[in-house]
Amino acid sequence: MIIVTGGAGFIGSNFVLDWLISSDEPVVNVDKLTYAGNLDNLVSVRNDSRHIFVHADICDTPRMAQLLSEYRPRAIVHFAAESHVDRSIHGPMDFIETNVKGTFSLLEATKVYWNTLHEEEKLAFRFLHVSTDEVYGSLGPNDPPFTETTSYAPNSPYSASKAASDHLVRAYHHTYGLPVLTTNCSNNYGPYHFPEKLIPLMITNARAGKPLPIYGDGQQVRDWLYVGDHCAAIRRVLEAGKVGEVYNVGGWNEKTNLEVVHVLCDILDELDPKSGAGLASYRDQITYVTDRPGHDRRYAIDARKIERELDWKPAETFDTGIRKTVAWYLVNEQWVRNVQSGDYAKWVEKNYQMRDAQSEASK
Ligand code: NAD
Ligand code: TYD
Repeated sequence: MIIVTGGAGFIGSNFVLDWLISSDEPVVNVDKLTYAGNLDNLVSVRNDSRHIFVHADICDTPRMAQLLSEYRPRAIVHFAAESHVDRSIHGPMDFIETNVKGTFSLLEATKVYWNTLHEEEKLAFRFLHVSTDEVYGSLGPNDPPFTETTSYAPNSPYSASKAASDHLVRAYHHTYGLPVLTTNCSNNYGPYHFPEKLIPLMITNARAGKPLPIYGDGQQVRDWLYVGDHCAAIRRVLEAGKVGEVYNVGGWNEKTNLEVVHVLCDILDELDPKSGAGLASYRDQITYVTDRPGHDRRYAIDARKIERELDWKPAETFDTGIRKTVAWYLVNEQWVRNVQSGDYAKWVEKNYQMRDAQSEASK
């Protein structure tokens, strides 16, 4: 079996669901269920004996050690993290705790477990660390995309904590021989994406008739990848990746934030037009607000290594993936309502109340 950490979050739950469609190998899903962890994402596998959910914190090393000796996995896929840049600006401590100390704790428990394995199992074992392109920092408009050898230059507490975790993973390979793999992926989107992030926030705000808050001038560029493609890349790296190597994963879909929001509004205008509003478009809800401090201008991934060496490339284009995503949010209103209850409203107030609306002139 394999252990997945953070499998109740956005990418982790997509990974677990896809895994159980493409394999009969059981998966132990270790998750602390922070605000971002949601068992609703996993209702379709609730009665599936191949999915074992364990409510635990990766920072708890003895608990991780106990789980490893109980389940004896052949691999760990490590998603668990605090993942939202804006939250890392308001409160970096949780990011250091989970992303740095939690990864360290998991590596320590894994090292001890791995050393108990027989030679063949030891050789076959893998620790796959799921990371981000944000560790490479920000690109200028004409810079080439990030490759696996681009120097690290993280700019936010989130990306700095992920960079630290990447370095620890690397060190456990070089020092102790732990068979690790690291993936650095660009921005994901798709089903079960928590509506604090750009794409689901814009879809849910649009439908609720709320402002669509664009930070700064909206000309920041992200490289978008459909979550199912990311999960396929991780499965491929786990299967055939070379131990100790890093693989950049991206969708070759660079878009400005404003372009993304325009596409979302246009799809919503088509699939769910505003009722009785004549020619009114969701674009009318776009509002420019104070920029994010230290906002990275551009991310872009050079995904040629994983394509060349492991024959992976994205199956979805931005057009096909974003349509699927909007359609998913339209039919999963109850899921949205559930995640928006509780502390979600407090976060929205904290993050957006302090941002002044900017002049209409920049639209
Ligand atoms: P998410 O915030 O949606 O989910 C994180 C999950 O980790 C949640 O289920 C949460 O409960 C769990 N978790 C948090 N702290 C924990 C702890 N101490 N112990 C156990 N579980 C804990 O995140 P996501 O967007 O699914 O991202 C998953 C991983 O992929 C992260 O490592 C992130 O850095 C990386 N990544 C994300 C993106 C993206 O666009 N979302 C892109 C590239 C890489
Ligand atoms: P986000 O989804 O938070 O991902 P990341 O910061 O990890 O790239 O944000 C994507 C982009 O969208 C980023 O440039 C910030 C911007 N953004 C807004 O303009 N408005 C918003 O309300 C949010 C949440 C993000």
